[in-house]
Amino acid sequence: MCSGTIPPRISLPLGLSTAPTPRDASAGYEAIADTFRVAREQASVGAALIKEWARSLPPGATVLDLGCGTGVPVTAALAHAGCQVWGIDAAPSLVRAFHERFPQCPVACEDLLTSRFFDRRFDAVVAVGVLFLLAPDAQRQLFRQVADALRHDGTFLFTAPPIPAIWDDVLTGRRSESLGASAYHAALAAVDLEIVAEMEDEGANHYFVARPRGDRAQPDSDACCR
Ligand SMILES: C[S@@+](CC[C@H](N)C(=O)[O-])C[C@H]1O[C@@H](n2cnc3c(N)ncnc32)[C@H](O)[C@@H]1O
Repeated sequence: MCSGTIPPRISLPLGLSTAPTPRDASAGYEAIADTFRVAREQASVGAALIKEWARSLPPGATVLDLGCGTGVPVTAALAHAGCQVWGIDAAPSLVRAFHERFPQCPVACEDLLTSRFFDRRFDAVVAVGVLFLLAPDAQRQLFRQVADALRHDGTFLFTAPPIPAIWDDVLTGRRSESLGASAYHAALAAVDLEIVAEMEDEGANHYFVARPRGDRAQPDSDACCR
């Protein structure tokens, strides 16, 4: 179940224009929101893997879903497993769909790189299908934000091809870039996270699981306030 302790927040008031902001932070997804929604919700690729990963989280874990889209299937699987999910996405239409489907889940229509939800701390952060939509420097910045937002025993799950690659997104035609597994290991190490597992879902999407390493894996000073 999705039961945030703060009310759902959407930057774009419901009922207003769904036009993308002048600088479209959604990497083109607002423009193809309907097409994406239908395709993603029909296939639900990765739902079983997310469900399995959720079993490793503490009961009632707080999870931040980066680039949450409509919340199907990622937030849906997490909510079904009893997690409290917060979502961030820069596409107003997808955020509206998320809010309609998961009214109890706080959601922000914001750029990941400047989202206010990074002021909070989470048991887990998940980023499915979004990291590689960001430029390489922005990917590294996001890792820093994730490291700061994770609790000492937290987990970060993200998808990206394990081989360095540049390609055009099938739906938006926008440039996508994977830094590749070696560079992701190094970039995460730079923010004191380490990759502890890798796996693939039924659609051959590659997942990395990262955790705080060494000294960072100490109890949080705010552990009593979880
Ligand atoms: C391929 S979709 C994945 C959606 C969802 N995670 C899923 O698995 O269905 C990528 C999502 O990331 C969002 N997105 C891309 N760049 C973003 C950014 N800089 N800030 C916030 N959202 C972003 C898009 O709006 C889109 O909903």
